Amino acid sequence: AALQGDVLAKERRDLRQSEVQDKAAKEASRTDLGQEWNDPMAAERRFASDLRQTAAQNGKGQEMPEWKKIASGKGAEMGKRTNMSMKDQRESLPAYKMRKQFLDAVRQYQLMIVVGDTGSGKTTQLTQYLAEDGYGSAGLMIGCTQPRRVAAMSVAARVSDEVGCRIGEEVGYTIRFEDKTSDRTRIKYMTDGIMQREILLDPELNKYSVIMLDEAHERTIATDVLFGLLKKTLKRRPDMKLIVTSATLDAEKFSSYFNECPILSIPGRTFPVEIMYSREPESDYLDAALTTVMQIHLTEPPGDILLFLTGKEEIDTSCEILFERMKALGPSVPELIILPIYGALPSEIASKIFDPSPTGARKVVIATNIAETSITIDGIYFVVDPGFVKQTAYDAKLGMDRLQVTPISQAQAKQRAGRAGRTGPGKCFRLYTENAFQNEMLPTTIPEIQRQNLANTILMLKAMGINDLLGFDFMDPPPTNTMLTALEELYALGALDDEGLLTRAGRRMADFPMEPSLAKSLIASVELGCSDEMLSIVAMISAVQTVFHRPKEKQQQADQKKTKFHDPAGDHLTLLNVYNGWKGAGKSDPWCFENFVQPRSMRRSEDVRKQLVQILERHRLRIVSCGRETVRVRQALCAGFFRNSARKDPTEGYKTLVEGTPVYMHPSSSLFGKGQAEHVVYHSLVETTREYMNNVTAIEPKWLVEAAPTFFKVAGGGGKMGGELSKRKREEVIKPLHNRFANGEDEWRL
Ligand code: CDP
Ligand code: MG
Repeated sequence: AALQGDVLAKERRDLRQSEVQDKAAKEASRTDLGQEWNDPMAAERRFASDLRQTAAQNGKGQEMPEWKKIASGKGAEMGKRTNMSMKDQRESLPAYKMRKQFLDAVRQYQLMIVVGDTGSGKTTQLTQYLAEDGYGSAGLMIGCTQPRRVAAMSVAARVSDEVGCRIGEEVGYTIRFEDKTSDRTRIKYMTDGIMQREILLDPELNKYSVIMLDEAHERTIATDVLFGLLKKTLKRRPDMKLIVTSATLDAEKFSSYFNECPILSIPGRTFPVEIMYSREPESDYLDAALTTVMQIHLTEPPGDILLFLTGKEEIDTSCEILFERMKALGPSVPELIILPIYGALPSEIASKIFDPSPTGARKVVIATNIAETSITIDGIYFVVDPGFVKQTAYDAKLGMDRLQVTPISQAQAKQRAGRAGRTGPGKCFRLYTENAFQNEMLPTTIPEIQRQNLANTILMLKAMGINDLLGFDFMDPPPTNTMLTALEELYALGALDDEGLLTRAGRRMADFPMEPSLAKSLIASVELGCSDEMLSIVAMISAVQTVFHRPKEKQQQADQKKTKFHDPAGDHLTLLNVYNGWKGAGKSDPWCFENFVQPRSMRRSEDVRKQLVQILERHRLRIVSCGRETVRVRQALCAGFFRNSARKDPTEGYKTLVEGTPVYMHPSSSLFGKGQAEHVVYHSLVETTREYMNNVTAIEPKWLVEAAPTFFKVAGGGGKMGGELSKRKREEVIKPLHNRFANGEDEWRL
């Protein structure tokens, strides 16, 4: 019977397989009708695609001679490029011609702006020129900041290759929870967040001779704050140099902010890029994007493709769909190498995108906006730009940041298009209309500091003794309201006192490299006698997106294994169960595979945990276990996440206590479908079709009042909770205080 079952299963599989192929083939054949470009080549392209379609229909059928012919010609040329010696490669970069001028300028000026097209060698070369010129001697370092972790890692890898050392020797990097530097390190790449932490510990940055604020046009909060802080540092360190690199657009603005400092411009080596717009707005940009990629692959001359999408999930799905569609076309069409790149991708995989595509094949890199400026991939001739980006934006109503897919700015669109013109004349396919570009897109992107939660930043500034926030030298000041919300949040967390001054707890919180609420929960867990448990939970939440492995073909099995860890009190304790299970099994990989847990996520969490233990020890905070009394862990969570609290709605889902916004239990939560948790706190919200709570734990409402008495008050006076109140009454009992700071700006020492 089992055998028969197997056979049946195989049949079903085959059937499904052929269905998928049919579907993909259908979708692929739609490609020709799908896109209508405003460009004279459309007819030619249609012709070519007809040809290709015939080829596809004939199965192994026709050759595509034109394609192959051009491919081998171009391929040979590209081969030459990549066979260049490292030295030749370095010297072929536009930055090299400016080497002397650059070093002279650094000697003469303390501060300068460097602009140059992406790929001209700013990030990888300037630091090396400085090191070659002696700025890395006398135990000092050349520090270079990057807005993104992946960029910091990949650039450090590249430069250590060029220098001929291993990562962590002369060239290293530091990102949150990962330090790959040593005493020998002379060139250090790091995220701007790390630099911000370092300046908190040493405002004079005495370890550095030069700081390069790279990719400053990205205008991350950390970079923006560093602008102001480094200006101060320069005054105290006349021997230190600051180099700010930026895209051409903002150079003047930057110069005027930085005391009218000189601008050094690296002449570009770019080729024209032909821009094509959609005739009509696209109803489904993802489908349009994939269709366009196929069309380019099958009809355009050689050259790799870069497609911009908004996030990991979208990218992974697109890679799969594209793969299926290509497979459905059979072996007669040239190979398309499909490569994803986004922030969370492990670095070994990420580095594949730099490999040149083999002759006759084409590669398509599907990237987030990381490939806009931070990462340069050679050989891109075609860019597909759907016109969207995923950004965090502060949602005042929810009182927290939310990731949202939003249209890009004109500046971003131009930057994206420019990526096609680095190796030769290129083409950019914009999946939006010219009218949308002109009239609907903002000219430049709004800096993060004006659209995100500032609690973290303000806590750090306060910890540096900067109390006059309104007077702080921001290039573009954040809205006063955003600052007030952040101050209020920090006050409720006990990080600031009535006067708006940093408390001792606040100073401690600032030392933990994580959002203030998480730091608060960890600190509170010491008092509550459960820091051992909370450490594991906080480490897992900070280190990785998820520890669970849920492969597509074994979802059910994976989910089943996961339920074994489910804790009736919710996801935080479920994580703890996983951690304890892993530890109990000797932290073994086989245990992970058996339980559908990702071993590398566990190891990373463990590493982060160790680092957090060190911070706790530095503050003489005890590590104590509560054993089975995990109720304390939930209380400690309330101490940090009382704002993220919700109550069951009688009709459906939950409503947040703060604003009454409807939110829902995420299907992956261990509390999903259980229905008994009246009150919960959650770590974050994820927005898909609805607002979902992520990492949810059941709580008692009175814990909220205990955790944040200034934030919650007990209705009906007297502060009586519990026994004598009816269930309904109790539901109404907790009301957030009105925002006492809304019209009292003057009360605050900003
Ligand atoms: O910073 P900028 O955009 O001006 O250029 P860069 O990042 O210094 O890149 C200069 C060149 O180094 C690029 O054109 C790439 O050819 C190469 N590179 C690389 O091969 N691998 C990396 N991870 C980074 C750069
Ligand atoms: Mg760069």
